[in-house]
Amino acid sequence: MTPITIANALASTVTLNDGTVMPMFGLGVYRIDNNCSDLIAAALQQGYLLIDTAEFYNNEHSVGVAIKQSGKKREEVFVISKWWPSTEGAKGAMKSLDQCLKNLESNYVDLYMIHAPKDHHCADAYQALLDAKKQGKIKSLGVANFGVHHLEALAKLGLEKPSVNQIQIHPWYQNNDIVRYCREHNITVIGYSPLAKAKKIDETTIVAIAKKLSKSPAQILIRWSVQHGYVTIPKTSQEGRLKTNADVFTWSIPDEDMKTLDALGDQQWSCTWDPTKYSLEEAGLQVITIQQ
Ligand SMILES: NC(=O)c1ccc[n+]([C@@H]2O[C@H](COP(=O)([O-])OP(=O)(O)OC[C@H]3O[C@@H](n4cnc5c(N)ncnc54)[C@H](OP(=O)(O)O)[C@@H]3O)[C@@H](O)[C@H]2O)c1
Repeated sequence: MTPITIANALASTVTLNDGTVMPMFGLGVYRIDNNCSDLIAAALQQGYLLIDTAEFYNNEHSVGVAIKQSGKKREEVFVISKWWPSTEGAKGAMKSLDQCLKNLESNYVDLYMIHAPKDHHCADAYQALLDAKKQGKIKSLGVANFGVHHLEALAKLGLEKPSVNQIQIHPWYQNNDIVRYCREHNITVIGYSPLAKAKKIDETTIVAIAKKLSKSPAQILIRWSVQHGYVTIPKTSQEGRLKTNADVFTWSIPDEDMKTLDALGDQQWSCTWDPTKYSLEEAGLQVITIQQ
């Protein structure tokens, strides 16, 4: 049997509903400054294969530079980016996508997402992005921060389902209803903010489990996501943390401690925004019924 090493665990993948193969673990680069190619290149050299950026993070260009710097071939790295919705709608989405490809110095992005169901134009932008997918500029199309009602609206509008929904997931905010819907409809879930932005990393429950298992609190939180089968993208701006954050595959959290962590979900504590609750009108996903 092949031993589980960090490198081969980082190479574990999931096949999306359109056949694209995506790594199950990556580096999120939100709030890492726009000159972060050294850090990203270090991650790639350590075996990370997926980078999660966005137009909004203002560092797509660093991802492109880092891939070259790391000596990896473009096709060896899975890049996610996201369109930040605007009132420009489909036109804005196309502009952002083209700028993304320029930033990455690539003729495609592996997974492109609508960043959130906001600013009233998700349906027309989504349709335009499906066309861009046909042209090969996008390998897979996803959404982020979509609630069940947004996903149902896409289906009612007759639009092809997304391959991925990226939503906030950590023990204090588990979004179980959205996860259930996605799993039932073969939409892969990427959990973001797996460390809850480190805002509760010193909480007694986490520290106690970490001590018991001789792991760090960050490793407990990341392992909780991995053990639940989520694709996860912890962010760090510190090179020294890349390795330990990825060292979550050769051990597991015992059932009783998973139950304790799962119970934190009762707090329904969100560490950041929650656009999954935005209305269909805000998203621009209203299903208009024609009165006879
Ligand atoms: N689609 C969306 O709307 C959305 C929203 C939020 C996030 N995301 C994506 O998800 C990624 C991750 O989420 P996030 O950035 O919100 O937060 P996160 O990954 O939950 O937490 C990041 C925080 O944890 C700290 N940290 C990392 N490793 C640590 C360790 N070993 N020990 C202690 N602290 C540690 C980081 O500090 P240092 O940097 O100092 O290590 C940073 O303050 C983002 O970067 C982004 O790619 C997407």
